Amino acid sequence: MKLMHVDASAKRERSNSRALSRFFIERLREEGVALDVDYLDVTVDTPPHVSEAFAIATYTPEHERTPAMRATLAGSDALCRRLLEADALVFAMPMYNWSMPSAFKAFVDSVTRTNVTYVNSADGRIVGQLGRQKALFITSRGADLRPGTPYSSMDALTPALKAAFGFLGVTDPTFVDAQPLQFSNQEERAQALERARAELSAVAAAWAKSGMSHEADKEAVAF
Ligand SMILES: Cc1cc2nc3c(=O)[nH]c(=O)nc-3n(C[C@H](O)[C@H](O)[C@H](O)COP(=O)(O)O)c2cc1C
Repeated sequence: MKLMHVDASAKRERSNSRALSRFFIERLREEGVALDVDYLDVTVDTPPHVSEAFAIATYTPEHERTPAMRATLAGSDALCRRLLEADALVFAMPMYNWSMPSAFKAFVDSVTRTNVTYVNSADGRIVGQLGRQKALFITSRGADLRPGTPYSSMDALTPALKAAFGFLGVTDPTFVDAQPLQFSNQEERAQALERARAELSAVAAAWAKSGMSHEADKEAVAF
């Protein structure tokens, strides 16, 4: 399974979202899934902010693009290819000011591309091209935003991720949200991490199972 793994926390060794995404990949391997991981740290290789040149080039039909426009889009083209070639997507990030880190937003802006990651069909519909990929979002939050908590209405991260990737065809993403990791006592933080790890283990087992049945199908055909 080719898996694209993206981390987006400004923190390194101390990052909870990075630790949880590593944990998930280890669990998948322990479940016997053969992984080819394409890793991207968007805090190191941060896609550029949308520029005027990008905004014009991206909506210019491909056959009308100048060499300069093609050069402007080259980095974005390459990122889109990485997404499209993956079988599974794992995006890990902290909540910053109720939404996504700006480096991850730059990634979203770079990979939302007409006629690449979404296409306009002949009947006027827009068809996202990431419908084939399994997708897991791991988010870490300082506060507890679960339903019924005072902060639950402040969650602008989950809807933003669902909208951005839903548009690209990710119809059934899995979310594992570790919370509360900061505005809480030690015991609640430990419990939040334990809950997240338990959920990630269950997702790893489910992905392994679906992958294995796919392999079994292929063997059946070969026989
Ligand atoms: C700049 C900044 C903004 C943050 N904004 C929020 C927020 O709006 N809501 C929240 O629950 N936590 C917020 N936090 C807390 C982080 O989401 C939390 O500590 C998370 O566990 C960090 O993930 P990481 O360890 O992977 O960096 C913020 C943290 C930072 C550094």
